[in-house]
Amino acid sequence: MNDHFTGKVALITGAASGIGAASARLMAERGADVAIIDVNEEGAERTAAGIRERGRRSAVRAGDVTEAGAVEAAVASFRATLGRIDILVNNAGIGSGGGFLVEEITEAAFERMLAVHVKGAFLCTKAVVPVMKQNRFGRIVNVSSNRGLVGFERSSHYCAAKAALLGLTKAWAKEFAPWGIRVNAVAPGLVLTPMSTVHGMDAINEEASWNLQKRGAEPEEIASTIAFLASPEADYFTGQVLSPNGGDPIVGI
Ligand code: NAI
Repeated sequence: MNDHFTGKVALITGAASGIGAASARLMAERGADVAIIDVNEEGAERTAAGIRERGRRSAVRAGDVTEAGAVEAAVASFRATLGRIDILVNNAGIGSGGGFLVEEITEAAFERMLAVHVKGAFLCTKAVVPVMKQNRFGRIVNVSSNRGLVGFERSSHYCAAKAALLGLTKAWAKEFAPWGIRVNAVAPGLVLTPMSTVHGMDAINEEASWNLQKRGAEPEEIASTIAFLASPEADYFTGQVLSPNGGDPIVGI
């Protein structure tokens, strides 16, 4: 196990569960102190306890990433307790609750989808970037989805939100480069977390059958990509998208 994150503080949104929780554990094992914002306070405290068991510091704020006041207060309290923020993982997200045709997506569901993924990442980045600029160091990883890369015949609001995160990734990579801030995205395929397993094993098995490995990823397999992008090993990566997806689909040139 390397110590890439010794002396670093990572803020991971949505780390009460799934990919965020796995990323928090992995980064703590590699030396990071970890701050968490999540609407699920109990789950976030559980993740934080796991970080402390690994000998690292952790701080939790229960909050919704779509609310500017909550995000700003959380970032201020993390700066007070943990001293700095070096890494931001914009991971908090909601599923589409099944596959919906465009006629079935309500205006409210569309707005909420865009708010959690896109506005949430915007507000967290806006709150954290001044600290990173001051330190002339920052690593931001946005959690998109392969559905943002290639689309899907259901839940276009989810695809749109995840594609928007790729636009933010590329724009921010250019905007923040002068301050030594790298910005990348991870765009996973099927991952076995509460977001996907809530639909039942029949749905999981069907979706798993679309990829070359015939399985969903464990959240740890996505956490390792997130940790890589935030680590010194990825110092020549910025504005990039890595898609761990079991070969579904094979994307890229
Ligand atoms: P999850 O449901 O296990 O975790 C999502 C976390 O985000 C939860 O802890 C939840 O409480 C938190 N959250 C939701 N809305 C929030 C808000 N407004 N403010 C603060 N926290 C909020 O799901 P999972 O799979 O770990 O999802 C993490 C990210 O990965 C999401 O952005 C998701 O879209 C993305 N993703 C998931 C895939 C999958 O198959 N599970 C595939 C591709 C991307």
